[in-house]
Amino acid sequence: MSSREKSIRREYSAVYSQFDSPLIQKIRSEAFEEDIGQHSWIIAKDLREYLEWLALSTTDQILDFGCGPAGPLTYVVSQTGVKAIGVDINATALASAQNRVWTMGLSERIELKNVTEEVTPPFKDDCFDAVISIDVVMHLPDRTQTFCELWRMLAPGGRFLFTDACIVNGALSDEDIRVRSHYGISHFVPHDFNESALASVGFTLEKKEQHSDGLIAICSGRWQAREKYKKELITEFGETTFEHEQAYLKKLVELYSQKKLLRYAYLVKKQ
Ligand SMILES: C[S@@+](CC[C@H](N)C(=O)[O-])C[C@H]1O[C@@H](n2cnc3c(N)ncnc32)[C@H](O)[C@@H]1O
Repeated sequence: MSSREKSIRREYSAVYSQFDSPLIQKIRSEAFEEDIGQHSWIIAKDLREYLEWLALSTTDQILDFGCGPAGPLTYVVSQTGVKAIGVDINATALASAQNRVWTMGLSERIELKNVTEEVTPPFKDDCFDAVISIDVVMHLPDRTQTFCELWRMLAPGGRFLFTDACIVNGALSDEDIRVRSHYGISHFVPHDFNESALASVGFTLEKKEQHSDGLIAICSGRWQAREKYKKELITEFGETTFEHEQAYLKKLVELYSQKKLLRYAYLVKKQ
């Protein structure tokens, strides 16, 4: 495994190993307007909008690339009745995801697979009707190559919905970038970078919308709820971890409120 993949796994594992603890669940339920089990910047209202964009039917087979603990994935499957596969490089996330799938009674419809950055996920050509990927692209070593693989796996007419929370829109300091890269190696790209990469592999852009507001709401909500349970969090995880996470959430509110960074959702199609 590459050192970059190790860095991403290490940072996420610290969060995913506590994802289902009673304290973290209490914080999540207070921090999120609607806690759907996401570990990303998606709010339920936006996910419902993406479901309209995707117009899934019950016979569709979908892939969630970078599903994490499967919050958005289980929501999509329970709302639409599709069958789905979720993949992630993080085994700790997948253990939590499996738990969620069982608890929600979705084992017949959701399969989970541990993948690695270095090996292409073992899926056949044209086998998915849609792919979703929520706040994952920033971690990919070569997103054009991943887009190319996803294009291959999508059936003609298939849709790919993804979000990118690292679009540069202003002057970022080295400190901004260091704090923003809290979850391991991250790639910050200019406007139109994704459009060019998607077009180069054959995707057609159908929709692109800026959705930074949900990120700001989630960061503010998490920061406030964590302050409320500061004593318990410090007892469980230590003061350094607590302060580090709070500084990260505060920095994100600043960067996205000042529009130095933006988060976009994209819907593209394989013709
Ligand atoms: C911000 S989390 C989002 C998780 C989930 N999509 C959600 O919305 O809750 C990003 C996820 O991408 C995963 N990831 C990063 N690089 C990946 C890769 N090359 N292939 C698959 N998953 C990856 C991480 O392990 C992490 O679980």
